[in-house]
Amino acid sequence: MAAKEQSRGKRPILGVFDSGVGGLTVLQSMLQAVPDADYVYFGDTARLPYGSKSVDTVAKYAVEATQFLERQGAELLVIACNTATALALPQIEQAARVPVIGVVEPGAERAAEASHKKQVVVLGTEATVASHAYARALEARGVQAREKACPLFVPLVEEGWVEHPVTRQVAEIYLREAFAEGFEQADVLVLGCTHYPLLKPLLRSVAPPHVAIVDSAESTAQAVAAKLGARPAGSGHAGLKFFATDSVEKFRRLGTRFLGRPIKNVIHVDLRE
Ligand code: DGL
Repeated sequence: MAAKEQSRGKRPILGVFDSGVGGLTVLQSMLQAVPDADYVYFGDTARLPYGSKSVDTVAKYAVEATQFLERQGAELLVIACNTATALALPQIEQAARVPVIGVVEPGAERAAEASHKKQVVVLGTEATVASHAYARALEARGVQAREKACPLFVPLVEEGWVEHPVTRQVAEIYLREAFAEGFEQADVLVLGCTHYPLLKPLLRSVAPPHVAIVDSAESTAQAVAAKLGARPAGSGHAGLKFFATDSVEKFRRLGTRFLGRPIKNVIHVDLRE
C-alpha cells in the first residue's frame, strides 16, 4: 500500500479470507480495530471444512482465494482461517503480491505475553493441530504448548448450539483432556479456530478459573491496525462486500450470527469459471 496514498487518507481495501462464515469473527474484530476501511470478504463455503483436509488441498484453495481477493483490489490480505494460516501461510505469501497477515502469529504473540507459567493450551481443528503451527510459534517465544483438536465444535457452533448442554458436555471433555499430562497448570487458552469466539462465554465457564482466554481473532485485528499505522480519522463507516462459493442465502443467514450484524450484498463466485 503506497505511503503517499495513506497520507492522503485513502481508505485501504482489506481482503479477508476464510473457508466459510467463521472468518466473520475476525472481520467483526477488525471492524472495531479498523473501522475506516473497505473490506472484501471471501468465504469458500462450497469447499469447507478445511479443518479435515490435507496441506496440498488447503494450500491450493488458499492460493486461489488469494488471487481472487487481489483481483478485487485487496491491498492487504488477512488469512482469517486458522487452518489455512497453519497449513499454507508460506504458499499464500509466495503467491501474493500484497502483504499477508495470518492468525497464528498474532494469537501466539498475545498468548506468550499473557502466560506467566509459560504453558499454554491451544484449541483448533484437526489440521491446525496436526500442523503444530501454534506450538512452533509459541516455542519460538519460550512457551510450551499443548494442542488439542476439537472437531465437534465447528458443527455445534454452526448449529447455533453455543450455550447448549451437549456443547457444554463436549467442552468439558475436551478441556479435561487438554489440561492434563503436565499441563494442569497452563494459564492461557488460545481459541485457534474462527468458530470458537462464539463459544467464549461457555469456555470461560468450563475452563479452570485461573486461565486467561486469548482469541486469535482479536489479536489479529490488533496486528492489522498496527500494520496500517496511524491514519487520519475518516467517516468511521466500513465498506463491506462479501463473496461466497456456495449459497448466498445460507451465507447471509449463518454469517449474520458470526458477524453480529445483518449481512447484505453477498455475491456468488465460482473460482473455476
Ligand atoms: N475456518 C476454520 C479454522 O479457523 C474452521 C472451519 C473449517 O474447518 O473450515 O480453522
